[in-house]
Amino acid sequence: MSWPSWLPLRETLRPLSAYGAPQVPAQASLNTNENPYSPSPALQKAITDAVAKVAADLNRYPDRDATVLRTKLATYINERSGTGFTLDNIWAANGSNEIIQSIFLAFAQGPVLGFTPSYSMHPLIAKTTGAQWIDGKRNPDFSLNTQDAVTEIIKNKPTLTFITTPNNPTGGAVSIEAIQQLADAAQSVGGLLVVDEAYAEFSQELSAVTLISKNPHVIVIRTMSKAFAFAGARVGYLVSDVAVKDAMMIVRLPYHLSALTQAAAQVAIDHRAELLGGVSTLIAARAELVDALHQMGLHTIPSSANFILFTGFKQDAPQLWSALLEKGVLIRDVGLSGYLRVTIGNEAENQLFISALKELI
Ligand SMILES: Cc1ncc(COP(=O)(O)O)c(C=O)c1O
Repeated sequence: MSWPSWLPLRETLRPLSAYGAPQVPAQASLNTNENPYSPSPALQKAITDAVAKVAADLNRYPDRDATVLRTKLATYINERSGTGFTLDNIWAANGSNEIIQSIFLAFAQGPVLGFTPSYSMHPLIAKTTGAQWIDGKRNPDFSLNTQDAVTEIIKNKPTLTFITTPNNPTGGAVSIEAIQQLADAAQSVGGLLVVDEAYAEFSQELSAVTLISKNPHVIVIRTMSKAFAFAGARVGYLVSDVAVKDAMMIVRLPYHLSALTQAAAQVAIDHRAELLGGVSTLIAARAELVDALHQMGLHTIPSSANFILFTGFKQDAPQLWSALLEKGVLIRDVGLSGYLRVTIGNEAENQLFISALKELI
C-alpha cells in the first residue's frame, strides 16, 4: 500500500496491511472459526432484557473494572479446571485480541518469541506496538517441537513467549507437560509464557490455567468468541497471577468494556450450559468431516479445535478457495502454500462444503 506523503504514519507501520479475512456473503461461512449455532430465542430474550436494563443508565460510564463479569468468568474457569481463581486472577476486554494487545503494551520491552505458523495477530500486534518479534519454527507436520522451543527460549531470552494451543491455523494441541517445560524455560530467562487457549473447550488437553498457582509467570488467554458462540459481543479474557492482572489495569483504556457488553456477557455465562452445548456436536462433526476429507484422498492435520487444515488437492490454494466460494462456501486461505482451513459448521454447511469440494477435486 502506498500512503500519501503528507501522512506522518509511523515508519514501522508503512509496509503493513490491515488484518482481515474476506467478509463476503456465502451460503456456508466457514472461514473465521465462529460457532455456527446462534443463541436460542429464550437466551436472545434474556440478553435483550439485560441490555434494556442497562440502557436506562447509559448516561453513566460502565463499571470500569467489570467486577461482576470477571467474577463469573472465574467461576466458569474454576468449574472446568478445578482451580481456585477469583476476579483478581481475571482480566476482560473487547475480544482476546485486545487482551493480546494489552499484554504487548505492558510487557514487550524485550524480544517476543512465537512459533509459526500460528495466530497471525501475535506478530502483527508485535509490529503495531513496536515490539521485536522472533519467528520460532515448528516441526514439518506443524506440531510444536518442545525441545527446539526450549532451546529457542534459552537462546533468544524473550520477555514474552507465545504458544497457541490448540494452534490456529493448524489445530494441534500441546500437552500440559510440554507447556510446563516451556514455562520453566521462560522463567529461567526472566520472561512470561503466554498461552493462547482460544479453542481450549474443543480440546481434551488439560488447560494451562492449572499451572498458574505454581507458575505466576504463565498467562492464559481465553475468549467467548468460539466455544461460547458469542463472537459478536466481543469478549475475551485472561487468567493470570494477580500481578499480571494489575499490570493490565495500567495499560487498559478507561471504561474500555461497555455496559452493554458486560450485561450481555454476564447473561451468556449464566446460560453457559446452553451455549457450550454445541461443543460436543462440533467435535463429532469434526471427526465426520475428517473422514469425508480422507475418503476424497485429502490429508488433514490432526485437530483439537473447531477447524481443520487440509491439503493434497491438485489446484493451488487460492484457486480452490475461489472455486469453493463460487459454490457458496467460504473457507480460509491462511497463506500456507498447498493448505486450506475449514471451520466446522452446522450439518447443512458441512454437507455443502463436502459436496462442493467433491465436485472440484
Ligand atoms: C488463537 C486465537 N487467539 C485469539 C483470537 C481472537 O479472538 P477474539 O478477539 O474474537 O476473542 C483468535 C480468533 O480467531 C484466535 O484464533
